[in-house]
Amino acid sequence: PASDPDLVARARAAKEQLGDRVFILGHHYQRDEVIQFADVTGDSFKLARDAESRPQAEYIVFCGVHFMAESADILTTDRQQVVLPDLAAGCSMADMATAEQVAECWDVLTDAGVADTVVPVAYMNSSADIKAFTGRHGGTICTSSNAKRALEWAFEQGEKVLFLPDQHLGRNTAVRDMGLSLDDCVVYNPHKPNGGLTADQIRDAKMILWRGHCSVHGRFNLDSVNEVRERIPGVTVLVHPECKHEVVEAADMVGSTEYIIKALDAAEPGSKWAVGTELNLVRRLAKAHPDKEIVFLDRTVCFCSTMNRIDLPHLVWALEELVAGRVPNVITVDPDTAKYAKAALDQMLALP
Ligand code: 13P
Ligand code: SF4
Repeated sequence: PASDPDLVARARAAKEQLGDRVFILGHHYQRDEVIQFADVTGDSFKLARDAESRPQAEYIVFCGVHFMAESADILTTDRQQVVLPDLAAGCSMADMATAEQVAECWDVLTDAGVADTVVPVAYMNSSADIKAFTGRHGGTICTSSNAKRALEWAFEQGEKVLFLPDQHLGRNTAVRDMGLSLDDCVVYNPHKPNGGLTADQIRDAKMILWRGHCSVHGRFNLDSVNEVRERIPGVTVLVHPECKHEVVEAADMVGSTEYIIKALDAAEPGSKWAVGTELNLVRRLAKAHPDKEIVFLDRTVCFCSTMNRIDLPHLVWALEELVAGRVPNVITVDPDTAKYAKAALDQMLALP
């Protein structure tokens, strides 16, 4: 079993043996059994910056999902190797935009005569190929903690934004933070000819949103918000911007995982919160703040199944392989892709 004390002891021993040679990064959605071994925890923005902060570590063990490990490989030195304890830890949202589909979309924008005025903004939750596409076309990466600054920057560079792959983060940021209307946004569906859009619709739009979403945050809906408000009078609803627009509109506060953690740290004892994000994080926060009432926004159980693939047995296996002198599950991005993806990531890190 995952909580097996033997596994805890083995992870501790292997980590101790590796010392400064290993640096373990843990995303907030990871299981408690894994998070306890992370040298740093964070949201995807913090982890991208932290990955660079230990140049002396030979191995970066990334407890998160594939696109995060790719970004860590791009941002760290060539000498450092990034290990993902389970290669099946992908992200369904990142998989919703492939390089071929995005190249086809760019052709559609070119045919509509607008490609010159479009700046791509890719959410961190995308493959290295999509980040490289963004870098090649002068765009930037963003995360849920800096999406507003990324859009402000992008609209200084061009007239339109192609936002990949999360339509909800794109729409929520455009409407809530940039003062755009829903009519300024169109959705590009990669499974339809011309994205399901006419050339006029593309020309009139300010935000071209890729039709991608997070299957975890997509489960919350307006009923979840109404139901919790009825059940817990005085509750503050706090949600992640990957939630649907109707949920974000109905919520009291909206922000990245790091923002959610800080908001609950600062909350008054006795205050009541319904949190709309991944369940490992919400349960950990509820445990950390017994003086506050913190509940999950929905009645259903809602883990990110791919994040959850990184469990203690996989972590122990990866660490013990490193101790034995083998480097398992190395994530590498080819140099050409890495070069352009890094340009887009560096643009994000340089945002004001
Ligand atoms: P943040 O870590 O940027 O809040 O994103 C949440 C997420 O879905 C990561 O996969
Ligand atoms: Fe992807 Fe959503 Fe899981 Fe994050 S929570 S890794 S966006 S599926």
